[in-house]
Amino acid sequence: DWTADAFVDTTVAELKQQLGDDHVIMALSGGVDSTVAAVLLHQAIGQNLHCIFVDHGLLRKNEYEQVLDSYKNMGLNIKGVNAKELFYGRLKGVSEPEQKRKIIGAAFIDVFDQAAKDIQQELPEGAEAKWLGQGTIYPDVIESISVKGPSATIKSHHNVGGLPDFMKLRVVEPLKTLFKDEVRRVGKTLQVDPNILGRHPFPGPGLAIRVLGDITEEKVRILQEADDIYIRNLKEAGWYDKVWQAGTIFLPVQSVGVMGDERTYEHVVALRAVGSLDGMTADWIHLPYDLLAKISNEIINHVKGINRVVYDISSKPPATIEWE
Ligand code: XMP
Repeated sequence: DWTADAFVDTTVAELKQQLGDDHVIMALSGGVDSTVAAVLLHQAIGQNLHCIFVDHGLLRKNEYEQVLDSYKNMGLNIKGVNAKELFYGRLKGVSEPEQKRKIIGAAFIDVFDQAAKDIQQELPEGAEAKWLGQGTIYPDVIESISVKGPSATIKSHHNVGGLPDFMKLRVVEPLKTLFKDEVRRVGKTLQVDPNILGRHPFPGPGLAIRVLGDITEEKVRILQEADDIYIRNLKEAGWYDKVWQAGTIFLPVQSVGVMGDERTYEHVVALRAVGSLDGMTADWIHLPYDLLAKISNEIINHVKGINRVVYDISSKPPATIEWE
């Protein structure tokens, strides 16, 4: 029978054999797969694993700092790259969803390529990073068409010529035979931070596809505040772990409201929570009205710029989980 302990033992031994004294470069996303893959590689080759964590400025509130800290606590050799200005600059005025994804994918490649070059430069005399670590899991392999993260974007650039340097590396994918629940069990055995293991899926382009329309720092800030209230309440009420994925969407409309004697004309956010097994189909979750009421009040009272909160009651299909 498959056990996480046995998987860790064999995989670490195989990785040691395969990699020897080689150096590996890897991009981490804060998600379960890349983190667990990195911890396995770290057990096998220690500081010869060089991790990069890119901040595109489109993560949840405080998430970049928190995730970077937990990576450091796990002993990973990690370099955080703050690339917020680059991403916001390239996204300025862009509102078409697929265009946003393309821009983010390309910017990610540029930032990662530069960081990988920097790492190569800093390696000791004669050493060279020959490998690219990836958190690919079995469903990604069998369903490579449905992969929409940075890796898919990398693939679509394969034919373009003038490949970024890091793409000349050989790929090492220690989780390639596992399903998600197995990855979580391996992560638990490896004592990966439970906050990372239990985290909801989060799209590679992050909040860029949850701010409908064009992206500004102000909209992202408002969304982060509202989303933080939403997620915190789900956790406090014991709903976070019962939901497959939840998030807040900043809508590109303003609506009329009233505060005291004043008419307001402010932004609307939508709350989404779905149950799913693999993201291919999803049902909206029947959150208790009392909880929704509490969240709505808190958001409207505390987040300046929002005067209306709505709850998304659409399932997939025919809707999708994300709005863009
Ligand atoms: P949809 O919206 O297609 O989402 O029902 C299904 C799952 O995929 C995630 N998603 C993405 N993940 N890059 C990603 O890495 C993307 O561009 C992207 N778009 C959607 C979504 O969050 C959900 O988990």
